[in-house]
Amino acid sequence: MRTLREIPPLREALDEFRRRGQRIALVPTMGNLHDGHLALVAEARRRGDVVVATIFVNPLQFGAGEDLDAYPRTLAEDQAKLEAAGCDLLFAPETTTLYPRGLAAQTRVCVPEVSEGLCGGDRPGHFDGVATVVSMLFNLVQPDVACFGEKDYQQLAVIRRLVTDLHLPVEVVGVPIVRAADGLALSSRNGYLDAEQRATAPALYRTLCALRDALEAGGEVAPALDDGLARLRAAGFAPDYLELRDAELGPVTTTTRDAFLLAAARLGPTRLIDNLSLTLPR
Ligand code: PAF
Repeated sequence: MRTLREIPPLREALDEFRRRGQRIALVPTMGNLHDGHLALVAEARRRGDVVVATIFVNPLQFGAGEDLDAYPRTLAEDQAKLEAAGCDLLFAPETTTLYPRGLAAQTRVCVPEVSEGLCGGDRPGHFDGVATVVSMLFNLVQPDVACFGEKDYQQLAVIRRLVTDLHLPVEVVGVPIVRAADGLALSSRNGYLDAEQRATAPALYRTLCALRDALEAGGEVAPALDDGLARLRAAGFAPDYLELRDAELGPVTTTTRDAFLLAAARLGPTRLIDNLSLTLPR
């Protein structure tokens, strides 16, 4: 696997793949790779002839006071994992390579509506930062297909909308959440948890499962969500949100069948997110 840091050699390598008629599958990441990322690479392998991964801790998607500086940077370990997973090319640029004129001067992409509320409500500007860097990576790599995790369900919805609205010729594939044996969704931020918080963390998933069961059995939405918030607080979380939305993240109506429970909750300074699909009864 080659690792490239600069744009001209990346373009050369991609031109060579295209000359050979190879289908390019992209896996954008911020590094500190875990089995959830490797599931993205495995899906990309199935869908493309060559897999291009990117590692870039994107400052544009971190708010003031968030964990940009603390975010784990583990390039050597990540390279070994990607190589073993069958990745062909890694693009790992410096911040100045993607944003040479600085963050304030950077042209940005904004995806209205779907970026609002949920994580977008708690993290103003976050999805503009994601949409900007993903647009840039799509433009640089021009992949046929790109794989993203369903754990960041709102991010996936933002990227799908961006591709539709900008008429980008990329197939966006959502890859199911990978969980630890106790149900906790894998996330690079799980590494921030101390032993006690790590033992508490799966209560987020258990709460979503209990809510799903209640709603699929015909329970009323508002009391079920109140109960879920109470469960999270009792377990030691400070919830940011717990919501039921339709699959496009619109409001649930009497005709909605396929729905999603989405939650973000803090354990100490660590913010965890998770979601679960469910089928509402007729
Ligand atoms: O999900 C992530 O790791 C990041 O938000 C992404 C999509 C790589 C953009 O920086």
